[in-house]
Amino acid sequence: MRVLATADLHYDVWRSRRPAEQLARRMLAAGGDVLILAGDTAGIDTEKLAQCLHLFAHFTGRKLLVPGNHCIWVGPCQSSWDKYQNILPRVAAEHSFEYLDRQPALQDHVAFVGTMGWYDYSYRDQSLAIPQRFYTHKVAPGAAARLPCYQHLLDGYSDLSPQAASITARWMDGQWVKWTFLDPQVTRLLADRFAEHLRWAADRAQTIVAVTHHLPFARMLKKTGRPAWRFANAFMGSELFGQAMLDQPKCRLAICGHSHRADEVVVGHVHCVNIGSTYRHKRFTAFDI
Ligand SMILES: [Fe+2]
Ligand SMILES: [Fe+2]
Repeated sequence: MRVLATADLHYDVWRSRRPAEQLARRMLAAGGDVLILAGDTAGIDTEKLAQCLHLFAHFTGRKLLVPGNHCIWVGPCQSSWDKYQNILPRVAAEHSFEYLDRQPALQDHVAFVGTMGWYDYSYRDQSLAIPQRFYTHKVAPGAAARLPCYQHLLDGYSDLSPQAASITARWMDGQWVKWTFLDPQVTRLLADRFAEHLRWAADRAQTIVAVTHHLPFARMLKKTGRPAWRFANAFMGSELFGQAMLDQPKCRLAICGHSHRADEVVVGHVHCVNIGSTYRHKRFTAFDI
């Protein structure tokens, strides 16, 4: 069975459009039995998602996807949870894509089990000494100081190191993801659902391929570099998803995206591949299973 996987097509972003279209043509030419999109296919505008999925209309095999954090971005008065649970599965189905967050896919002896994944700040870089409240609001202290709406994170506190106070990064999910849950709650909910789907698959398949958008293993984090990037590590994922894979011996291959950094690690019995598409350069990987 030949599986083609890509991620982070970001079809709503102008500089990604042409590269995504070229990549789709290359994937169609390569051909395969299963095609996987591992998240961040588009952003707020679901019409752009639909247009991107349409690029794969002539793929003759089975088509699977999980959303990414950008896919659940919404405008004013909209709900990311509604988009995740209802709108995205409907758009996927309209273009013959199966939404793995809702249900695993069985193909011969292989089960494909997927989730967007999420983050609970367990990947945060402790050496930055940034207090938890800044992660909750997804804004680093230096950026909070410049924005009146975040003054309450600074006023009356004296717990910031000079280094922490100088970091000016934001994680834009803070502006565009809208739901009433806390991130650790979402992470637990999705990880529990993912583990349940993995158990279902283990009873029915010989091999399980896991698909997540976020990074399932902390080993895949970029540990060095600019403080802004180290702040962003908090939003890269959670090992709750990797642990669910490690709990199932049949799970040998995992595919992810999100960090835009091509990578491969082996953790226990799981070989995890990060596709590594960037905004300008799109990649896909072919797996023979
Ligand atoms: Fe992305
Ligand atoms: Fe992402």
